Amino acid sequence: MVEVISKLYTPKFVVILLAIGVLALLLGCTPSHPQSTFDPAGPVAEKQRDLFLIIFWVAVFVFVLVEGVLLFALIRFRRKRGQDEIPVQTHGNMPLEIGWTIAPIIVLAVIAVPTIIYIFDIDRSPGPDALTVNVIGHQWWWEFEYPEQDLVNKHVITANEMHIPVNRQIGVTLRSDDVTHSFWIPKLAGKLDVIAQNENRMQFTATRTGTFFGLCAELCGEAHANMKFRVIVETQEEFDAWISNYHELAERPPPTGDTEEALGYTVFASKGCLLCHTNSGPASLEVRQSLMDAFYRGELRYPAPNLTNFGTRTTLASGFKDNDPDGNNLRAWLRDPNDVKRGNRMGELANVYVDPDSKLTEVEISALAVYLLSLK
Ligand code: CUA
Repeated sequence: MVEVISKLYTPKFVVILLAIGVLALLLGCTPSHPQSTFDPAGPVAEKQRDLFLIIFWVAVFVFVLVEGVLLFALIRFRRKRGQDEIPVQTHGNMPLEIGWTIAPIIVLAVIAVPTIIYIFDIDRSPGPDALTVNVIGHQWWWEFEYPEQDLVNKHVITANEMHIPVNRQIGVTLRSDDVTHSFWIPKLAGKLDVIAQNENRMQFTATRTGTFFGLCAELCGEAHANMKFRVIVETQEEFDAWISNYHELAERPPPTGDTEEALGYTVFASKGCLLCHTNSGPASLEVRQSLMDAFYRGELRYPAPNLTNFGTRTTLASGFKDNDPDGNNLRAWLRDPNDVKRGNRMGELANVYVDPDSKLTEVEISALAVYLLSLK
C-alpha cells in the first residue's frame, strides 16, 4: 500500500495537485461569481469587503514574517558537515519574550479600530425614509412582507424574490417561522440570523440595479442548500410599478370561460392548493399563524409561498429553478416536487402528491401552469 502511494505521489504529481488546488482557491475569489463578496453593490457589503481585506493583509504580513524568520533559522542554524557536537543550549530571552508578547497586542489593536468603527456603522438603525421589508424564514423558502408605510395600500406579501428600489435604504426585520436560518445577500449585506422567538434587524442600501443572489447561511434541514432567493434592485419607478401590479393582481377576478387558464384556476381552487397558498394579495398574520398552528397539530397544511404575482417571478422552488416562460420547469415541479427539489413541504403534504387517487393529470398540470404563469 505504502509503495503504491509513494509511486503515485511523485514530486511532479504533487506539484500539479498543489497547482490545481491553488487555482481552485483563487477562482473562488472571482468577483464575477453571483455569490462573490468581492463585488459589493452597496455600502454594507463594501465595508465588509474592506474589513476582510485589512485583516487579510495583516495576516499575510504576519505569515510572511513568521515563516521568514523560521526559514532563516532553519537555514542559518542547520547542522553543518563535520559538526557533531550539540550546540549551546539556551532557554529564555527577555527582549524576544517581551517583543512577541507586545507585537500581537499591537496587531490586534490595529485590527480592532476599523472593526469597531465598521460594526457600529453597519449596525445602525434605519433612517426615517428607509423602506421596511419584513423577512420571514421558513423551511425552506423566504417570505417578504412590505408593511403599509408611506403609501396607502402598500402592504404586499411575496416569496423568494425581494424587490427593492436602488439607492434607498432598506430596513429589514428578520423572523423565523420554525428553525434558525440566516439571511445573506453576498453582494449587498448579511449574514444575520433569522430566529423564531426574536426579531433581528439590519439595514442596507443597494447602489446599483440588477438581480442579486441571496441564500440561507445556517444549516436548517434537508433543503438548506437550496433555500435561495433573489433580490431585484430596480429604479423607484419600476419598484412602484411592481407594487401597483401586485395590487392589481390581488383584485383581478379569476379567469372564466372555456380557456386553459380558467381550467387551471378550477384545478387551483378545487385540488387543495388554497389550503396553503394564497393568490389574492397578502394573507393576514392571523391566517398565516393559523397555518403554522395547523401544521404543528399534525394537519397536512403549512404556510406556503404567496402566489399573487407568481407570473412575474424569475425563479421557482425558492430560487432553485428558472421560472421559464414556457413553463417546462413549472410543469416538472407540479408533476413531482420531490423529484425537482428534495425537502419541500408541498410534496410531503399536498393531497395530490400524497394520495395516488388524487394525482394531477397531465391536462391539469398544463392548465395549472398556464394559470400560474398568467399571474403577472
Ligand atoms: Cu434556512 Cu438554511
